[in-house]
Amino acid sequence: MSEAELDGDFQRLMELATAFMGSQVLFTACELGVFDALDPAPRDGPALAAALGLDPRGAGLLLDACAELGLLGRGPDGAYALSPASRQLLAARSPHTQRATLSFLGGATRAVWARLGGAVREGRNQNPEVLGVATREPFAAIYRTEPERLLFMRAMQETWSLWAGPVLAAFDLSEFRVICDVGGGSGALATACARLYPGSDVTVFETPEVVAAAQEHFREPGEAPPIRFVGGDFFRSPLPPADLYILARVLHDWGDGACAEILGRTRGGSALLLVEAVLDPEGRGPLPALLLSLTMLAQAAGRERTEAEFRAMAAAAGFRHFRLRCPRGPFAAMLARK
Ligand SMILES: C[S@@+](CC[C@H](N)C(=O)[O-])C[C@H]1O[C@@H](n2cnc3c(N)ncnc32)[C@H](O)[C@@H]1O
Repeated sequence: MSEAELDGDFQRLMELATAFMGSQVLFTACELGVFDALDPAPRDGPALAAALGLDPRGAGLLLDACAELGLLGRGPDGAYALSPASRQLLAARSPHTQRATLSFLGGATRAVWARLGGAVREGRNQNPEVLGVATREPFAAIYRTEPERLLFMRAMQETWSLWAGPVLAAFDLSEFRVICDVGGGSGALATACARLYPGSDVTVFETPEVVAAAQEHFREPGEAPPIRFVGGDFFRSPLPPADLYILARVLHDWGDGACAEILGRTRGGSALLLVEAVLDPEGRGPLPALLLSLTMLAQAAGRERTEAEFRAMAAAAGFRHFRLRCPRGPFAAMLARK
């Protein structure tokens, strides 16, 4: 190996080994309010430190690290400003903000990832060990407290501020009059669906607690919601009758047997729309889907799957005509029909 190759390998290794520090800079800057304080206007380090009650030297280091990571810009006058990406994705008041997603990732997800070794050794989530819950049922941990339930619901909702359009337009769904988004969270994807296909009648099927939280905290003020909610348990209750059942990021929470139970309840429909990150045909990549699969191992009870696996699961539930499309964004849309 040449010296240049060794230098390059060392640099890549150190970048990987210290990647958690970059994540921590991002999480900490969010938590301390850096992006919100810079949203109205650029400020220099001492002014920002004073406004946020931070140690000036610590603040200066954090701000420069944010700038080196591309999260902030630095003007010639020494003032820090939001980068275009931060203005879109990190400012709390941006319609595309991902702040709840980052809080969830930097909180419960990061905590269970710290015990990734335990998850890999035991082949199961680490929620009881890390979060002190009594069961490995994933949502007992994710919804441990009401603020945590709301945070997760917000995090899920944020995704659809970016990707609902591409996912819902991947196939023309206008022929489906009655649509049920199973495990549809706060109803963000269902609302986008009702708006994109105005002839449809869209219901979200969710746990009663999520339905109550959606109605109390996620209603758009002054607007009649274009969707309805039905509370229940998709392992126990029948689903509302529908022509099309949507399952977005639901199957990846569960093992194959549980997925078969959920899908078994959609048999009355004429089609399924599955929305998931899909693994390549060998199941060995791409990296973002593999990392999500490890998250499902450490934090939930499922995994990401290949197209062939989704096709087989849909077929076992009676949906034999299967097509997959990859619109813009991290999710594939899979339409399976009878
Ligand atoms: C990973 S989230 C995905 C939420 C939404 N589909 C999305 O993509 O934003 C999984 C959803 O399944 C719901 N869920 C979990 N267990 C459930 C059950 N037994 N019955 C109904 N919904 C359930 C959760 O409340 C959660 O909203």
